[in-house]
Amino acid sequence: MSYRRTVKLVCGLAAGGSAVLLCAAAAATESHHGHVSETHRDQAGRWVRFHVLQAAQPATTWSAGRHTGASTGLAWDVNWDKRDPSTLQTNEKKEKASEDPSTEQENGKPTATRHILLIRHSQYNLSGTVDHERVLTHLGREQAGFTGQRLAALGIKYDILVHSSMTRATETAKIISKYIPGVELVSCDLLREGAPIEPEPPVTHWKPDAVQYHEDGARIEAAFRRYIHRADPKQKEDSYEIIVCHANVIRYFVCRALQFPPEGWLRMGLNNGSITWLTVRPSGRVALRTLGDSGFMPPDKLTRT
Ligand SMILES: *[C@@H]1O[C@H](CO)[C@@H](O)[C@H](O)[C@H]1NC(C)=O
Ligand SMILES: *[C@@H]1O[C@H](CO)[C@@H](O)[C@H](O)[C@H]1NC(C)=O
Repeated sequence: MSYRRTVKLVCGLAAGGSAVLLCAAAAATESHHGHVSETHRDQAGRWVRFHVLQAAQPATTWSAGRHTGASTGLAWDVNWDKRDPSTLQTNEKKEKASEDPSTEQENGKPTATRHILLIRHSQYNLSGTVDHERVLTHLGREQAGFTGQRLAALGIKYDILVHSSMTRATETAKIISKYIPGVELVSCDLLREGAPIEPEPPVTHWKPDAVQYHEDGARIEAAFRRYIHRADPKQKEDSYEIIVCHANVIRYFVCRALQFPPEGWLRMGLNNGSITWLTVRPSGRVALRTLGDSGFMPPDKLTRT
């Protein structure tokens, strides 16, 4: 394989990966709503299926450790986000060798820490049959207000507020944004609620079809890769990003970020409007600062059922 081709492939993995996954996710969402015609699906099918399959396997280590006991002894994968400088430098070095060899080391190393605050949308009307009817309840709007107040009270300068495009997450994000004026709001389809991966142990009250795991799993994994990773070397200052999305998505992100078996996501519970805080260090180390914090809400505003 020629050198040029190698670089292209590696860069495609590091930078172009999310674009590819985005396409897979878009296709998955579309077919979910039944808008994709058979021919369209056939034409794109082979290509899409390939990527869906790839994305549905979170990491090879998971399948390897899947059937082992309590102590798997799995080591931390330092290159979990494919941004480990020691692996990227090899390619950059070749590209930059002719330009300025003295700066290549510094250029490749992240120095900033990324803080990602994952918010579960607040309570909504469960009687709605379609998404736009599933609006926040009065209590849900109050909860979002408490979450917004809390985020403002933390005194942090937030960089961005991303939210799932579902109605309940969009509404929650809009209420929160009133408390942190000036922070850009961005809607994202990848973050919509779904079935990330078959839970282990299985539950009887919730049994999505295999195809739903197949489609949602790839999309939610794409969301994970899009949002949870160490800082880019170009990022100079620590960042604080808010992501308003859904309980399944957040629990899956937490398992994946901590390199815990993703099948365990359903063992965690998150209150409405709660804050889950992940920190990704420049080294790629990840810390879970809080999981589902809702202690800032008065007890009678917490929803548990
Ligand atoms: C949050 O609210 C939704 C309905 O809006 C409900 O299904 C869910 O159980 C609530 N979560 C908690 C932890 O109470
Ligand atoms: C919840 O949604 C249903 C169906 O759209 C509607 O009939 C009902 O009035 C809504 N309830 C509230 C409290 O908004």
